Amino acid sequence: MNICAPQLAELPPSCGFAVPTTRRQRVLAVGVIGPGRVGSALLEQLRAAQPRLLRDSGLELKLCGVVASRRMWLDCDDTELNGRHGGAQIWRPNDLDAFAEHVRGNDGRHALLIDCSANDDVAAHYPRWLAAGLHVVTPNKLAGSGPLARWQAIRAACASGARFRYEATVCAGLPVVQTLRDLLDTGDALLAVEGMFSGTLAWLCNRHDGRQPFSALVREAHALGYTEPDPRDDLSGLDVARKLVILAREAGWPLSLEDVDLQGLVPSALAALPLDDFMQRLDELDAPMAAKLAEAHADGGVLRHVAHLDRRGHASVRLMVLPTTHAFAHTRLTDNIVQFTTRRYCDNPLSVQGPGAGPEVTAAGVFTDLLRIAESLEARA
Ligand SMILES: NC(=O)c1ccc[n+]([C@@H]2O[C@H](COP(=O)([O-])OP(=O)(O)OC[C@H]3O[C@@H](n4cnc5c(N)ncnc54)[C@H](OP(=O)(O)O)[C@@H]3O)[C@@H](O)[C@H]2O)c1
Repeated sequence: MNICAPQLAELPPSCGFAVPTTRRQRVLAVGVIGPGRVGSALLEQLRAAQPRLLRDSGLELKLCGVVASRRMWLDCDDTELNGRHGGAQIWRPNDLDAFAEHVRGNDGRHALLIDCSANDDVAAHYPRWLAAGLHVVTPNKLAGSGPLARWQAIRAACASGARFRYEATVCAGLPVVQTLRDLLDTGDALLAVEGMFSGTLAWLCNRHDGRQPFSALVREAHALGYTEPDPRDDLSGLDVARKLVILAREAGWPLSLEDVDLQGLVPSALAALPLDDFMQRLDELDAPMAAKLAEAHADGGVLRHVAHLDRRGHASVRLMVLPTTHAFAHTRLTDNIVQFTTRRYCDNPLSVQGPGAGPEVTAAGVFTDLLRIAESLEARA
C-alpha cells in the first residue's frame, strides 16, 4: 500500500495550503529491547530518520539504550551506543526495570519502549511500564495473544495515558490493526475476518510445487529471515492463531489461543524437540506435504494456509485446497492478505494485501506506531 503525499515545501504558493512557520517541538526518549533482526533494522531506520524528523516535524528522538537477552547498553555509558551496540564497548547485565527507569528519566519527558524480542518475560513487564506512563510499541505477539487477564491488565494500565501499539504483530508492516481500529472507531461492526496471515506460510505454499522437498523450502525461508526464530511457530500455525486472537481482541471479542481450532503442519513427534534437533529432522514433513499437494492438484486447486474468524467466535487455522480462481490463490512471494467483512463492507470485503514478513517491513510497522504516538504528544521537556 502506497500513500503518496506531496511535501509541503514542494507545493506551489497558490495551492491554498498554509506552510507552518512554527513547529511543535517534542522530545521522545526511546529504548529498544531486542536488537535482533527486526530491532537492528529499526535502529537503522530510526538513526537515518532522526535529522529529518527534527527538521520537518520538530520531533527529537533520543535513543537512550538497547537491551538484549543478557546485556544492555545505556547512553550514559556510551553516547554512541546505537551505532555500535554489537561491538566491544561498555555494557551492563540485562535488567529490564533498570532499563525502563533509565529511558523514562526523571525530568518528566515522554518515553517509549520498543520490544523487538519474542520473549514472554518482557511482555509481562508491559502493565507495569504502561501504568508508570511509559509508552510501549512492539511486534512481539506474546502480549496480544497471551493470557486474557494479562491483556486486560495491559489495557487497564493505559488509563495512565500511556499508549500501547502493536501494528507489526499482525502481517508485519501492513496496516491491518489500524484498519480494523479505524472501521470500529467510525461505527462499523466486524462480522468476519479471513486471510493468509503468515508471510512464511504464504511463501512456502506459493513455492511448494513439487519440484523441491518442503523441508528445503523451510530451510531457505529460515535463512532469508522469513520465519520466526523457531520455524515451528510458523509451521504449527501458532503464529497465525496468535494474529487471529490479536484481531479478535481488537474487535472486543475475548478470544484466547485455546479457542482456535488449529491444524498445524508439525507432526507431534517433532513438536517438543530442541530447535537444532527439529531442524535436523525437517525432512519428516516432506511426505505429508507432498500428499497434500497431490490432493490439491487432483482437485485442480492450490494449497493455501487460511485463518478464519466469525462473529460467533468460531476461529480456525488450517491448510485448505482453494480453487485457482480464489483471491488467495493469486498472492505473491510473502504476501499476506486480510479480508474484513463488516456491516459496511458486507457484499465485498475490505482487503489489505502485501508483503507480510521480513525485518525491514516489520521495523517500518513498528516505526509507524512510534510516529503515531509521537504525533499525539504535547510539547514537554
Ligand atoms: N522477523 C520478522 O519478519 C517478523 C515479522 C513480524 C513480527 N516479528 C516479531 O518481531 C520480534 C523480533 O523478531 P526477530 O526476527 O528480530 O527475532 P530475533 O532476531 O531472534 O531477535 C530477538 C531479540 O530479542 C532479544 N531478547 C530475547 N530475550 C530478551 C530479553 N529477555 N530481554 C531483552 N532482549 C531479549 C534477543 O537478544 P540476544 O541478541 O541477546 O539473543 C534478540 O536481540 C518477534 O517477536 C517476532 O515475532 C518478526
